[in-house]
Amino acid sequence: MRLFFGLEPDEHTALAVAAWRDRELPSIGRAVPVANLHITLAFLGEISPHRLERLTSATDELTQAKPMAAFSLVLDQLGYWAKPRICWLGPGVWPDELNRLASSLAGLGSAQGGKRSRGQFQPHITLLRNCDIPPPAPLRPPEFQLHFSHFNLLESRQGKSGVSYHPLASWQLH
Ligand code: 2AM
Repeated sequence: MRLFFGLEPDEHTALAVAAWRDRELPSIGRAVPVANLHITLAFLGEISPHRLERLTSATDELTQAKPMAAFSLVLDQLGYWAKPRICWLGPGVWPDELNRLASSLAGLGSAQGGKRSRGQFQPHITLLRNCDIPPPAPLRPPEFQLHFSHFNLLESRQGKSGVSYHPLASWQLH
């Protein structure tokens, strides 16, 4: 199963982000469906189902040993990465604790056979895929406030009508 840890925006903000994107960035890429908007904390890739329980127990232990507080992010940066061909929305600043959480979760994933992530963590919501050009400067700059009080382990499933994400477990941020 293809797994990742992620943060999901509340429905109201996800709809507002998608509406802003559709107004400001039409037709430069394939729009990610509103239900799929999320921030990846750690992408694990293929993990055998029999390792799932060990992964969730290790995450339980991590969240007990190093509890993380709920936090807010202001998504005010529009970005573009040429290699994955994505246009994204993310915060300009974020708590250091979030870097530590992302890195610890990636470590738990790789201990269960997951992908090792490389590079700096930049929290982001992918807005458009298959983007060959950077987005133009938006007329209305983005500014979306998001509050997160939990994170999820999600399964990514490929279906006939595209990919969908299914939460398998959730951990509270206190
Ligand atoms: P993205 O939003 O930057 O595209 C679920 O597939 C999530 O995992 C996606 O949000 C995607 O991040 C991330 N992801 C998918 N494939 C990946 C890969 N090979 N390496 C790192 N992250 C990946």
